[in-house]
Amino acid sequence: MPTPVPPIERSDAAAAARAARPDGWWREAVVYQIYPRSFADSDGDGIGDLRGIVGRLDHLHRLGVDVVWLSPVYRSPQDDNGYDISDYQDIDPLFGTLADMDELIAGLHARGMKIMMDLVVNHTSDEHPWFTQSRDALSPRSDWYIWRPVREGFEPGEPGGEPTNWRSAFSGPAWQYDQQRGEYYLHLFSVKQPDLNWENPEVRRAIHAMMRWWVDRGVDGFRMDVINFISKRYPLADGPTAPGQALSFDGAAFIDGPRMDEFLQEMHRAVMEGENLITVGETPGVTVELASNYSNPDNHEIAMVFQFEHVGLDEMPGRGKWALKPLDLRDLKRNLARWQNGLEGRGWNSLYWNNHDQPRIVSRWGDDSPEFRVVSAKTLGTVLHLLKGTPYIYQGEELGMTNAHFASIGQYQDIEVRNHYREAMSLGADEADLLRSYAVKGRDNARTPVQWDDSDNAGFTTGVPWLAVNPNHREINAVRALADPDSVFHHYRRLIDLRHTHPVVRDGVFDLLAPDDPQVFAYTRTLGATTLLVLANMSSITAEVPAELPDTTGEVLLATHGRALGSTLAPWESRVIRLG
Ligand code: NOJ
Repeated sequence: MPTPVPPIERSDAAAAARAARPDGWWREAVVYQIYPRSFADSDGDGIGDLRGIVGRLDHLHRLGVDVVWLSPVYRSPQDDNGYDISDYQDIDPLFGTLADMDELIAGLHARGMKIMMDLVVNHTSDEHPWFTQSRDALSPRSDWYIWRPVREGFEPGEPGGEPTNWRSAFSGPAWQYDQQRGEYYLHLFSVKQPDLNWENPEVRRAIHAMMRWWVDRGVDGFRMDVINFISKRYPLADGPTAPGQALSFDGAAFIDGPRMDEFLQEMHRAVMEGENLITVGETPGVTVELASNYSNPDNHEIAMVFQFEHVGLDEMPGRGKWALKPLDLRDLKRNLARWQNGLEGRGWNSLYWNNHDQPRIVSRWGDDSPEFRVVSAKTLGTVLHLLKGTPYIYQGEELGMTNAHFASIGQYQDIEVRNHYREAMSLGADEADLLRSYAVKGRDNARTPVQWDDSDNAGFTTGVPWLAVNPNHREINAVRALADPDSVFHHYRRLIDLRHTHPVVRDGVFDLLAPDDPQVFAYTRTLGATTLLVLANMSSITAEVPAELPDTTGEVLLATHGRALGSTLAPWESRVIRLG
């Protein structure tokens, strides 16, 4: 049992600072995500930690970001690198202590930045005391998780005996038989991540109290892991998922259930009311309609959504994340435009290419060859950051870090890939095919250590890194990027600056131009008399400037190439022009 957590003194100064922030302050903010395990290691154990982050705050300050989203640092058995929490009110010793956390919060605040904690409350770790107690059917917590008897006509533990046919996101059935309880529990992720029963009001109250405790400790908001999974559709019933396929979100009974609005509004009243926090709900499978609803300020639910449609456009529809197809730029433009237009005046979106679950964008939809890496990283940054919404930068994206290019299964650490490999190989999959997909889409691509300098281990650790450092750190690293005014880093700095200084970047209405052009991404943002034109060649070959563009004369606010605009765009050339 963890030691009881002492109540903390509510900081009135921090509360006053939060209250003084303008409403919707996060609409002009840029968020930077830290995946602590891979950011910076202060003690040489090969795993990044809080003191490592504290030592690198000036990097973030120089970049100019407003908010840090910190992936989980809570106490955890680390089955899913911290997304399996066994104590919400303590720090895992791998990452440090609560005192280190306080220092990080203070260090960010002192530099004018804010901190958003990762809130993983659809599930806990199976080592959380709530779950160990729940395994006893007579315990007062027996109903805190989702327990069901074996399917009629089956023996417990027998294949097919699971209460529903749902699959876990990390392969295998989403139900695990528990000997002690004599029932199955639901786990939409790993067997060590049992889903909480949000129907139980005591569960909700315990979570609200824990969130309040963090707010009182000084945090400025929460990124809510798979938050639209907390309301399930009862009675739980078989879904459209076919055996052998990954978790399917289409019509799934575990997303966007009937009590979502109620649960989010209740949480808002209990935790967020009057606090002006930044809250982002990770909402896989969400529709534009539902997303507008969750993030409409009039509904008092969450500030913005993190949705996934655009990052599924290089998958074969309905066949899961490993069945790849090349991205068609027209699909991407249409999709982003649908979200821009659909949320206009109603909800608010997060803008991202990368996070700890996605491959590196420069390798995925850019060109990570030495010739085009820098320019394609810049142009991808431009077309994203000029959209309407709150942009997210994932650690290393500002350096143009690339995929890991791992070639054997032994190089991967991620539970998603390892479980998938085991299951797919047992079903007769072709190993080379699997490795190709993992190299393109595996989550470890995002998780290789941040490349700070060109020394051994890239300045990340003095020990043995938990995941191999990318050998390209000799060329791609923060020291080099900061010293080069033409680097991806300085381009991102300028993008952030544009958002902070031009209200049209925050508030302007989006209009897509030349939707059918397969190479060029062009759009305008308009606020009153101001119109910005964003024009980008998204390919490694020269492109024609589309004929249907408005008059392109105006002040160039940002460009990858220092030349006048002719009738063609160089590979990955982009510019932002204030028209008129
Ligand atoms: C979404 C998180 O981003 C991912 O990393 C994690 O594995 C799952 N939720 C489960 O918590």
